[in-house]
Amino acid sequence: MEKSNPRTKKFVRKRDPKLLTEILSTLMFCMLFPLLINQIVTYLILSHKETQYIPVKPKQEGTDTCSGRYVYIHNLPSRFNDDLIKNCEAYIELRNKCKYLVNSGFGPRILEDNHNNTTQVLTIETGSWYNTNQFMLEVIFREKMNHYECLTNDSSISSAVFVPFFAGFDVRRFWGYSVKLRDELGEDLARWLKERPEWRKLNGRDHFFVTGRVGRDFRRASDQDWDWGNKLMRLPEFENMTMLSIETNSWSNEFAVPYPTYFHPKSVTEVKGWQRKVRMMKRRYLFSFIGAPRPEMEESIRGEVIRQCLASEGRCKFLNCETSKDCGYPVKVMEVFQDSVFCLQPPGDTPTRRSTFDSILAGCIPVLFHPDSVYNQYKWYFPEDHTKYSVYISEEDVKNGKVSIEKLLGMVGEERIWRMRNELEKIIPKLIYAKPGEVGPEKIEDAFEIAVSRVFERVSLFNMSHI
Ligand SMILES: *[C@@H]1O[C@H](CO)[C@@H](O)[C@H](O)[C@H]1NC(C)=O
Ligand SMILES: *[C@@H]1O[C@H](CO)[C@@H](O)[C@H](O)[C@H]1NC(C)=O
Ligand SMILES: *[C@@H]1O[C@H](CO)[C@@H](O)[C@H](O)[C@H]1NC(C)=O
Ligand SMILES: *[C@@H]1O[C@H](CO)[C@@H](O)[C@H](O)[C@H]1NC(C)=O
Ligand SMILES: *[C@@H]1O[C@H](CO)[C@@H](O)[C@H](O)[C@H]1NC(C)=O
Repeated sequence: MEKSNPRTKKFVRKRDPKLLTEILSTLMFCMLFPLLINQIVTYLILSHKETQYIPVKPKQEGTDTCSGRYVYIHNLPSRFNDDLIKNCEAYIELRNKCKYLVNSGFGPRILEDNHNNTTQVLTIETGSWYNTNQFMLEVIFREKMNHYECLTNDSSISSAVFVPFFAGFDVRRFWGYSVKLRDELGEDLARWLKERPEWRKLNGRDHFFVTGRVGRDFRRASDQDWDWGNKLMRLPEFENMTMLSIETNSWSNEFAVPYPTYFHPKSVTEVKGWQRKVRMMKRRYLFSFIGAPRPEMEESIRGEVIRQCLASEGRCKFLNCETSKDCGYPVKVMEVFQDSVFCLQPPGDTPTRRSTFDSILAGCIPVLFHPDSVYNQYKWYFPEDHTKYSVYISEEDVKNGKVSIEKLLGMVGEERIWRMRNELEKIIPKLIYAKPGEVGPEKIEDAFEIAVSRVFERVSLFNMSHI
């Protein structure tokens, strides 16, 4: 997360509807299971016969592979999305993001001469690596939604309604301005949505939107100008929608989805090639840390993490983002991660880090210091048992000087390392945002596909409980 606001220092303690969530998801599973089996069987039978092209038309001869998966995309006025990025340069607070908007939010392609070791580190001959900025998800997601295989203009058959609002660009544009200015466009959108016939069907419960920023940017509690962010996510209309963000601090209708990484492959074959490369990698460092210290945050453990890394006599690689430009070079970042067995991911301004996803992509086992960094966040994406894919060291233990990170990691056996890396390998496809457009067996079940299926599950759960 960006360095910026001193007021976001304290992590909000949350959690409580956990039991309810578990009961609900079990219930949901029982109800949806027959439906899922049915769809999987249909898919298998169909994909066997017509692997090349499955026509997507509603209700034709009884076998509609899109049934239950149709999405209606709201055709929003451009002030809610395109105008925000078209005028990017006009807003001081957005200016440094504008260059990342190219290639539908993937950012500039990484070319061979971008860095000396590019070809060794990445698989650039496939053209699937980009200098992707961490806050571009809303742009990427809309592009992927526009290429989704089951779109419909008939909202009466849709299972979900997508709202392509660029909420992150909106909130960022008026950073530090009056609350009135910050809230205006969101309130405008809420009114717009509520007046549409699609809203009436389920009071917006089938609507969803995605933001490329952390949820707390949209949950301002007071109407004081000094307070943080806008109050989009607190508007009654938005409380009925499903909201996806890169970090959530509400456990009701907001869900965390992965930060985008630099890798946007096209096909399953390409992902398999990458997984193979990651598995074979020789890793010189036991652990590494890429980041900047947070001297102004008293409770930050980064200082101690860096101290221990530097004291390790070469077993730990530290890339200091405060003093080195290398952190801005995806090739350099991926090179360090590929060269390390463990990657330290201490919280920054907020508990989550984009870096966690880059390191996992490189097959580096994450070392996490706070349950909100991954475990409480990306539940749709990671196995429930976090010991399968990560090492947990509590912040307290680091603060109290109770633990030597090097010693602890040095004691993890080869066998466990191998098992964890194997698990990460399976997780990799789920965390990436693939290049849009692929259909059929080469289509990757990526972060986007998983998010959309989970939205469907939520809508049908709600629908079933209200008929
Ligand atoms: C690549 O390495 C050469 C020689 O070591 C150096 O002069 C050059 O600046 C490097 N280029 C990049 C893009 O890092
Ligand atoms: C390229 O890789 C070599 C060996 O892995 C390494 O020593 C060197 O520092 C790398 N070059 C750059 C520019 O990162
Ligand atoms: C929906 O309507 C728009 C505008 O008429 C059209 O461009 C688009 O192809 C339609 N989409 C579908 C899925 O039929
Ligand atoms: C809600 O349930 C009704 C009745 O089962 C069904 O006809 C309708 O398609 C469902 N709507 C959605 C959005 O799932
Ligand atoms: C949200 O949904 C509830 C029913 O679930 C409905 O009573 C309420 O009016 C909805 N809110 C808005 C703003 O539509």
